[in-house]
Amino acid sequence: MSRLDRCLSIPDLEREARRILPRCVEGYVCGGTEDGASLAASTAAFGQIGFLPRGLRVVEQRSSQVEVFGQRYALPVGFAPTGFAAIVMEECDLALARAAKDANIPFIISGASSVPLERLQAETGNHCWYQAYLPGDTDRIGRLLARLQAAHIDVLVVTIDTCVGANRENLQRLAFTVPFKLSASVMLDGLLHPRWTFDVFLRTLRGSGVPRFANLYEEIGPPITQDPPNGFRGGRDRLSWEHIRWIRARWPGKLILKGVMHPEDARLAHAAGADGVIVSSHGGRQLDGCVAPLQALPGVVAAVPAGFPVMLDGGVRRGTDALKAIALGARMVFTGRPQLYGAAVGGAHGIRKVVDIFRNEIATDMALLGCATLAEITPDLVVPQAPACSRPSGGTP
Ligand SMILES: Cc1cc2nc3c(=O)[nH]c(=O)nc-3n(C[C@H](O)[C@H](O)[C@H](O)COP(=O)(O)O)c2cc1C
Repeated sequence: MSRLDRCLSIPDLEREARRILPRCVEGYVCGGTEDGASLAASTAAFGQIGFLPRGLRVVEQRSSQVEVFGQRYALPVGFAPTGFAAIVMEECDLALARAAKDANIPFIISGASSVPLERLQAETGNHCWYQAYLPGDTDRIGRLLARLQAAHIDVLVVTIDTCVGANRENLQRLAFTVPFKLSASVMLDGLLHPRWTFDVFLRTLRGSGVPRFANLYEEIGPPITQDPPNGFRGGRDRLSWEHIRWIRARWPGKLILKGVMHPEDARLAHAAGADGVIVSSHGGRQLDGCVAPLQALPGVVAAVPAGFPVMLDGGVRRGTDALKAIALGARMVFTGRPQLYGAAVGGAHGIRKVVDIFRNEIATDMALLGCATLAEITPDLVVPQAPACSRPSGGTP
């Protein structure tokens, strides 16, 4: 039985991925900022909500389909944007996009990804959404929008929680930097993890070369070992609601803001003409001490008109987590780390396994909850429960 076959759940995949990945890569993927409080809160919050299931409801014919922005997707789970995924698997962005297309779930290309977005779109029949890390500079934003339109991107996701780089103490300890530097300790780390060194590092160098900042701005940028023009984070601290209104006036596609936690920001997003929001604390990788996205969700839902798509990411590791978020008003959820764990353990097969796990868990758990459709998952089916029931998080290595 392969390592992948032995994994029955996302926590199993996480455990296995942590064994395979060098410590610095594990720290980048699994870690959070400062004390890891936001990271721990995001998973623990799902344990602080419990179900009140209904019985004797006919659930023979179940559908987990969800409609978002005029598209019908097979599952209420999509792949959140994850930058530098190439350090987990060669051309990981491509494998993620293909798996999402085949499973008919949304995939959001990260602004910090390495396979050109034009290729991802061509390989998936224009299936992808795009996430932008925007500088507060309308000229540069305008040139990026032109590239996205030429590539037939219909959904633009603007991340609003990264105005500056966060305090990633764990990465400093592990000598992991952006741009990527091959320090002596990183090399030793690689030598101690030969499977990763052969399957990811050397295969990538031989196959596609050093990954690049392919999708940050209007053109393909330098290798991830060099700073892109204007710096990786240049000018993001000038981005404001003015820029969102400027984009709205020019961007014909759907516009989503990611990283909305405060109800007032949700209201402003709606007023600025956004088509939806993603409640997110960036997987606990930005401001430490944020409440869990699941805890922020009801306030955001209450601040916008009924039917306005509110989505969520952060700590979703089980089908039941997705169902709890939906009960509290989320249209759907996204995952960040789970598909990277799948990629680390089993490459493209591992990513597909992640989707299979969520599909199977959701199908079973909907039946056990007494719901044949997502619309039947209503707030009365969940109640708060004692923190003692909260699930431990993976923690910051
Ligand atoms: C390795 C990694 C890279 C990420 N890169 C990005 C990114 O480029 N853009 C972005 O908006 N969010 C990024 N995120 C945050 C995710 O989109 C998402 O908000 C978060 O991972 C959800 O939490 P989860 O990992 O617990 O599912 C990244 C997260 C991880 C784990």
